[in-house]
Amino acid sequence: MDVLKILRERYTTKLYDSGYRLQVEEINQIKEILRLAPSSINSQPWAFEIIEDDVIKERLSEHSMNNSERVRAASHVIVFHVYRSVEVFERERIGRLAEGAQGFYRGYVASRGEVAVRAWMERQVYIALGVLLAALPVLGVDSTPMEGIDLEAYDGILGHEKYRPIVAVALGRRDPKDENQPSITPKSRRTDVFL
Ligand SMILES: Cc1cc2nc3c(=O)[nH]c(=O)nc-3n(C[C@H](O)[C@H](O)[C@H](O)COP(=O)(O)O)c2cc1C
Repeated sequence: MDVLKILRERYTTKLYDSGYRLQVEEINQIKEILRLAPSSINSQPWAFEIIEDDVIKERLSEHSMNNSERVRAASHVIVFHVYRSVEVFERERIGRLAEGAQGFYRGYVASRGEVAVRAWMERQVYIALGVLLAALPVLGVDSTPMEGIDLEAYDGILGHEKYRPIVAVALGRRDPKDENQPSITPKSRRTDVFL
């Protein structure tokens, strides 16, 4: 596997082939990729919701700003959730960790206050997002990471007591006319990022 070739060719899909649907086996691999994502002290403060139902996708698309058409046409949408309550997170996840990990959490995370804990939890969820974005092109699956969605509206539609959404990814196969693909629009990246 040529990892650089894969990363040079992956891109944020702007236009999907609306007739294309991922296979169950591909979705199962995607689930396992998400489950295997690393997180600080293995805290896993997340839940992933894989949506294929056209009615729900349509409702979400109405609250997806510039991403509306992608949410509608994509095969699936994965919504990344984080624990709503720090207290529940601490009981369900931190409480099950080894004493050393709990000590790290108390000393370096919880001691900085609830706002910092929430930001830390969200950072862990974004690690899972990054792992997924890097793995999808290996499976030959096109994707769109999406912060440009109305999270309150998504929360209202999906309505999970324990978790709230923070970011989403549309998945599927590009429409060959998608002008954002690197063969048409070359990748743009900084070169001055190494100190
Ligand atoms: C966390 C995150 C959120 C993003 N949100 C959106 C979005 O809402 N809509 C969109 O079209 N692209 C979105 N993008 C795509 C970025 O604009 C894109 O990754 C960046 O311009 C680099 O282009 P490339 O992914 O095609 O290499 C997002 C990317 C990330 C990592």
